[in-house]
Amino acid sequence: MTLLKIARMGHPVLLERAEPVADPTSREIRRLVADMVETMEDARGVGLAAPQVHIGRRVIVFRAPAERAEEGAAPEAEAPLTALVNPEFEPVGDDIELGWEGCLSIPGLTGAVPRHARIRYRGTSPDGRAVEREARGFHARVVQHEIDHLDGILYTMRMDDLGMLCFSDEMHHFAEAARERAKAAG
Ligand code: NI
Repeated sequence: MTLLKIARMGHPVLLERAEPVADPTSREIRRLVADMVETMEDARGVGLAAPQVHIGRRVIVFRAPAERAEEGAAPEAEAPLTALVNPEFEPVGDDIELGWEGCLSIPGLTGAVPRHARIRYRGTSPDGRAVEREARGFHARVVQHEIDHLDGILYTMRMDDLGMLCFSDEMHHFAEAARERAKAAG
């Protein structure tokens, strides 16, 4: 396996629409998926899309670990390491949630992004299985973020308040402000 170079914001590949994959089980795609998983884990990310490694194909890898789900969250908030070829999703219900996201293509920054709270998604795994799941919370968020990459969309382009874009190591200011507000509210 090989560690792949990650494209950073500003590289045009991140703004292009990726092409569908004709054969999700081909050797080439299985090799790409293995390299993407290794690259994601090495970079300590929880999701990666093929355009982020300069490959304009509709392939994503992600996981939604239990520690990222909110306490008491439904099982649909978690997902094991998953690779999907030609993934698609649709919202379930109208709820929109604001949540913090980072991106391996935008290192050092974090932003609050509105996303559908619940989705249903589907795709093909590299071993040819059809995958269909319902997701909510962080799980729904990471899938929407990765599928956006396949359409040339970065999370910053989804933000409606750029005042909520910050360096990750300055994020504690937001937490402190929230604590102050909670205290004031009694
Ligand atoms: Ni990303």
